[in-house]
Amino acid sequence: MTMQKVAHPDEVYTERTVQSLAHMERARAVMPGGMTANIKHYAPYPITINRANGSKFYDVDGNEYIDYLMGYGALILGHAHPHVRDAIARQIEEDGTWLFGTPHDREVTMATRIQKYFPSMEKIRYANSGTEANLLAMRLAMGYTKKYKIAKFEGHYHGAIDSLLLSIHPPKSDAGDQEDPQAVPDSGGMAPDAADDTIILPFNDIKSCARILEQHKDELAAVIIEPMEGGVIAPKSQFLNQLRKLTKKLGVLLIFDEVKTAFRSSMDGVQGLYDVTPDLTTIGKVVGGGFPFGVVGGKSTIMEQSSPLHGTDIFAGEGSRTSQKALFHSGTYNGHPLILAAGIATLDVLEQEYDALALRTDRFREELTRLFQKHGIPMKTVGSGAMFSVLLTESQEINHYRDLQMCDHDARKKLDKALFEAGVYTKPGNRYSLSVVHDDEVLAKTLEAYDRVIPEVLR
Ligand SMILES: Cc1ncc(COP(=O)(O)O)c(C=O)c1O
Repeated sequence: MTMQKVAHPDEVYTERTVQSLAHMERARAVMPGGMTANIKHYAPYPITINRANGSKFYDVDGNEYIDYLMGYGALILGHAHPHVRDAIARQIEEDGTWLFGTPHDREVTMATRIQKYFPSMEKIRYANSGTEANLLAMRLAMGYTKKYKIAKFEGHYHGAIDSLLLSIHPPKSDAGDQEDPQAVPDSGGMAPDAADDTIILPFNDIKSCARILEQHKDELAAVIIEPMEGGVIAPKSQFLNQLRKLTKKLGVLLIFDEVKTAFRSSMDGVQGLYDVTPDLTTIGKVVGGGFPFGVVGGKSTIMEQSSPLHGTDIFAGEGSRTSQKALFHSGTYNGHPLILAAGIATLDVLEQEYDALALRTDRFREELTRLFQKHGIPMKTVGSGAMFSVLLTESQEINHYRDLQMCDHDARKKLDKALFEAGVYTKPGNRYSLSVVHDDEVLAKTLEAYDRVIPEVLR
């Protein structure tokens, strides 16, 4: 078999990552683009990691990095936190297996723990990813309202669902007016009518949202939103409240996708920060302790549609064909004991350490801002709690996707590459997710690296 050669324009990068390049050549022979998830890719090829410990990880060439990707935000306790490691070992030891396929205690324990912070999630169902959680949330909304269109916001990501895989990164030329964004598919392989049942909304513009939603209210089951766009762009002070009032008035459900933000932007998510109660919420990432997990919760009346006590579904057998149908929700791994054990252990530690982590993150952001000022480079950070983005921009206000497009992304990529070489990792252009083991020493080292590379790269 002939190996596909990979371009490597950056000599320093290539010299440090010889084994990563060799891995990529092997990977490209067996996987499209060498990837199992396209999000892992960046040019010319990503580094390959094979070991981690706390706040650090190590590539196949033996280079050490402070990890700010933290499993795309999932690992809020850092790599292999001892409390989670023990909980996983204990789950297997005490239960004698890692999968029952029946009800079990941890399903209820986890639901109660989540409800302490998300009282809007009156009833809860488990899934295996944020994507799956959003699929169920949409079905619940459609079943409840008997309407079959969904409105989503430009620039917001909700997983690989055709009707939501629209206008996440639309090119300006195709995206329409800012006040009236058009649906732009983000993937090949979607049916030509994939966008027909989706309405696109502009974030932080309640006037335009009101006009568009009024126009489509009779067909719309729900509005789904990342209440903090991309996990980092804050809603304007009254935006979420106004959206809540508007959707209620129009008979459209409101779904908060807090997959990134739950237990990271604050313990009680963006809904806690802004005191807004959605009809349905989806969460994931942190609450799964670094394992595949998603949760849907919301008003009892909406969630109860999926109860097998109120009807039957395909698993009830032959005799039930004429019965009233329950809203279908199942999955071999739903409520997986090992994942729930890891998630519950994560919440145990976070309850003790979240406040200190959020304070440390705030201080780190301030110090970073001062550093850029010292070097005379315009920069601002956006985010909340233990997650933020570094934006190279002179703009004072970042309110939505189109403002984000005005930032200097090429310079940010150069900066990220130079930081790699100084041992600081986040995926190029990605947000920074801190963990409880990103202590003062680790953060000081990061600031030193920034101080060295800013004049080299950005002047
Ligand atoms: C806001 C949001 N929703 C949904 C998802 C999809 O979650 P998953 O990757 O677990 O399917 C993500 C993933 O990054 C996300 O950030």
